[in-house]
Amino acid sequence: MSPTKVAPHLFVILGALGDLARRKLLPALYHLSARGDLSACRILGVDTDDKLDDNGFRAWAHKLLESTGEATSADISQWCAKYLHYFGTGRSPNYLKLAARIEALEREHRLPGNRVFYLALPSGAVPAVVAGLGKAGLSRGPGWTRLVLEKPFGWDLASAQKLNLEVHRYFDESQIYRTDHFLGKETVQNLLVFRFGNTFFEHLWSREHIESIEITVAESLRVEGRAAYYERAGALRDMVQNHLTQLMTLVAMEVPAAFKSEAIRNEKIKVLEQITPIHPQDVVLGQYTSGRIGGEKVAGYREEPGVSPNSRTATFVALKLEVANWRWKGVPFHLRTGKRLPRRCTQIVIRYHCAPVSIFHPFESSCNIQPNVLVIILQPDEGFELLFQVKAPGQPFRLTTQPLHFRYAEAFGKLLDAYETIILDVLHGDQTLFVCDREVEHAWRLYDELLDKDIPVYPYPAGTWGPAEIDKLGASWLNRSV
Ligand SMILES: NC(=O)c1ccc[n+]([C@@H]2O[C@H](COP(=O)([O-])OP(=O)(O)OC[C@H]3O[C@@H](n4cnc5c(N)ncnc54)[C@H](OP(=O)(O)O)[C@@H]3O)[C@@H](O)[C@H]2O)c1
Repeated sequence: MSPTKVAPHLFVILGALGDLARRKLLPALYHLSARGDLSACRILGVDTDDKLDDNGFRAWAHKLLESTGEATSADISQWCAKYLHYFGTGRSPNYLKLAARIEALEREHRLPGNRVFYLALPSGAVPAVVAGLGKAGLSRGPGWTRLVLEKPFGWDLASAQKLNLEVHRYFDESQIYRTDHFLGKETVQNLLVFRFGNTFFEHLWSREHIESIEITVAESLRVEGRAAYYERAGALRDMVQNHLTQLMTLVAMEVPAAFKSEAIRNEKIKVLEQITPIHPQDVVLGQYTSGRIGGEKVAGYREEPGVSPNSRTATFVALKLEVANWRWKGVPFHLRTGKRLPRRCTQIVIRYHCAPVSIFHPFESSCNIQPNVLVIILQPDEGFELLFQVKAPGQPFRLTTQPLHFRYAEAFGKLLDAYETIILDVLHGDQTLFVCDREVEHAWRLYDELLDKDIPVYPYPAGTWGPAEIDKLGASWLNRSV
């Protein structure tokens, strides 16, 4: 892939010593500059540790980048020395001092004043940091200024609205990039090309041809050190309100007037507005108990460190919703996510109507026609699969389902990590795949009432596809390994 140059800038990571910066942001920035995308930039890590200096931060970053085994120690040292700087805030951040440090770095490296503020912070810290940046004059710089906000964006509708107001006090919507790292995945972006660049599928994209749509985000992992947050959030807040809902809007939206952020966001918002209120009886919650994954015995959620032994937090959600418009009326959208499911997999399954009759020996089950199914695989093996019917060779006459398949890795080699795509989009000022204020609020509006309802939480053994009660939703769920 040819490098796409971005304007010289200062990339400021607030929360530079945290998990997200360590696991995603610094490796992504390293990869992007190794590919030549970020030549004229500098990175300023900002975190609470005020004992650390530039060299200490570089040594810390060196260690973590070296552990990935992707580059030589000398290359990493050179990169850290060239790009990385650090500012420690202590427990009482002084944003005027941060502003002075930013200006000094820009003078020293002849940067034109373009700035990204990436807030890799605990959500509780975000309002104060945004206000601190704003009051120190950092929301407007000599060049462009962009603010990147991570999930969760709010805790419910009221808190999301409040947070939007607080952020808008200092930053315009055109400066704000609310990330949903699912939208950074090539396969999700390609969904738009797939739908609107190929007449073949778009003609078959409606209730006339489609029986149901399933969206699954399955994790085999547990809460992994995020128990304090997860105990309060649960799967509905953590996954459904953001990632699954975003995927659903991309599947359901109408053709936008152009491949531009405003046009796409407007179409996604229309979908959110057209979803009928979700009834609690169309929602099944679950919590994993002990079980086996990949032959290994694993503990139940309530036995995990940091989790209450009486916890009622849902680690699984399946729900059914309807988009009541001309295209989709009557087509169930089934959304499902959970922890400790049998394998990691994110997929969208479009299930077409079956042929109305079987002309092939209609009374023999081996000649029953199965529906065509389109599977869009977002992870772990990104690609598409179209399941269709063929005749098995020989006699007796028998139908069998075969996949027509496309895999990104086979066609293009290694894909960009979602965070690399997200960072590049921010640097190019492309908001297409970021979530705007109105979308966030509409998405919370959908689930707000459910958050207050006392919906039963059913147990499911780790390593299974959720509680048996999901059968009542009437979904077919494609669970095979595609
Ligand atoms: N980790 C992931 O894989 C992941 C994935 C998707 C989204 N996210 C989101 O990304 C955000 C960060 O998550 P995380 O897991 O990286 O959290 P984290 O590990 O707790 O790191 C946050 C860092 O921010 C620092 N910090 C707190 N207040 C600060 C301030 N005012 N100025 C500068 N630094 C400050 C913290 O320092 P102290 O420890 O001293 O307070 C800590 O080093 C969260 O919103 C999370 O939901 C994370």
